Amino acid sequence: MKKILVVGGAGYIGSHMVKMLLQKQHHVVILDDLSSGHRDAVLGGDFILGSLADTALLNGLFAEHHFDGVMHFASFIQVGESMLNPGSYYRNNVTNTLNLLETMVNHKVLTFLFSSTAAIFGEPLYTPINEIHPKNPINPYGRSKLMVEEILADFDRAYGLKSICLRYFNAAGADAEGQLGERHDPETHLIPLVLQAAAGMRPYITVFGQDYDTPDGTCIRDYIHVEDLCQAHLLAIEKLWDGAPRGVYNLGNGEGFSVREVIDAAREVTGREIPVQYGARREGDPARLVADSGLARIQLGWQSKYPEIEKIIEHAWRWILHGSKHDS
Ligand code: UFG
Repeated sequence: MKKILVVGGAGYIGSHMVKMLLQKQHHVVILDDLSSGHRDAVLGGDFILGSLADTALLNGLFAEHHFDGVMHFASFIQVGESMLNPGSYYRNNVTNTLNLLETMVNHKVLTFLFSSTAAIFGEPLYTPINEIHPKNPINPYGRSKLMVEEILADFDRAYGLKSICLRYFNAAGADAEGQLGERHDPETHLIPLVLQAAAGMRPYITVFGQDYDTPDGTCIRDYIHVEDLCQAHLLAIEKLWDGAPRGVYNLGNGEGFSVREVIDAAREVTGREIPVQYGARREGDPARLVADSGLARIQLGWQSKYPEIEKIIEHAWRWILHGSKHDS
């Protein structure tokens, strides 16, 4: 049993991670400012309301607990918002992360998992995208994540901080047991929006662009089940505890689905009509993002449990129908 600090543990991916760590009998401390997370999504552990901007709080927390590792899920994630308000993205995603890393080093906690993103690659030069693909982010969100990856390399060299960066492609789905799911406000992600249209919670789904250079003209993404992402974190932190060096891994299923294919799969899974409108392209959307996750399979022994898009949608649908009606 280890003691792990999960920052952002009340959010979408963080809350699933907390559940998985508790199931593995770890002692979990959750730090979240609830700016976008939900207190009732934290199913156990010790919850602390607070922000990474608060260095006094961080110092107190690390003085009180001896953590065996830290997982960091507390980032801003909206590409469009990052273009309009880059300052808040650099402050939260970079400066606040630096606060956390410096506190860790000061307290000699040297095991860190970082939620990175496919957005660090920008417009891909080839797919599937492996770890060595050139990094050329095209928005402040992606740049903020790449900056932290670079900071982590420097912190390893200078202070021996061992980290693994997990670059998520499109996180999707919900807890297989139906306890947790995606509750962003506003919701901007394709699968929950499509399912909200299926449930009649919104009148239609707008497809952003149908003139991309893909077989059906809509964007292709690699959707990965949130539980599979969490499983990769578990394997990664165990690897670091075993003495593995710093690493970076791309996480997806290696299969791309177009926006139209996702909508068709959702029609099949839900048995509902899903009204569609076709709109303009959304700025900053690459045509195709598909991961090469071979390295994670080889080095972490990671394998996805739910690679099928239908299963991912089925779990998300169950959450939309039964789980997501909590107060925020
Ligand atoms: N889409 C629509 N209509 C919508 C919403 C999305 O057509 O109403 C399309 C998008 O244009 C895109 C695809 O559906 O082609 C997926 O969009 P999402 O917003 O669900 O996901 P993104 O691929 O834009 O973003 C995800 C993460 C980001 C991360 C990015 C990495 O949510 O945090 O992958 O590229 F930065």
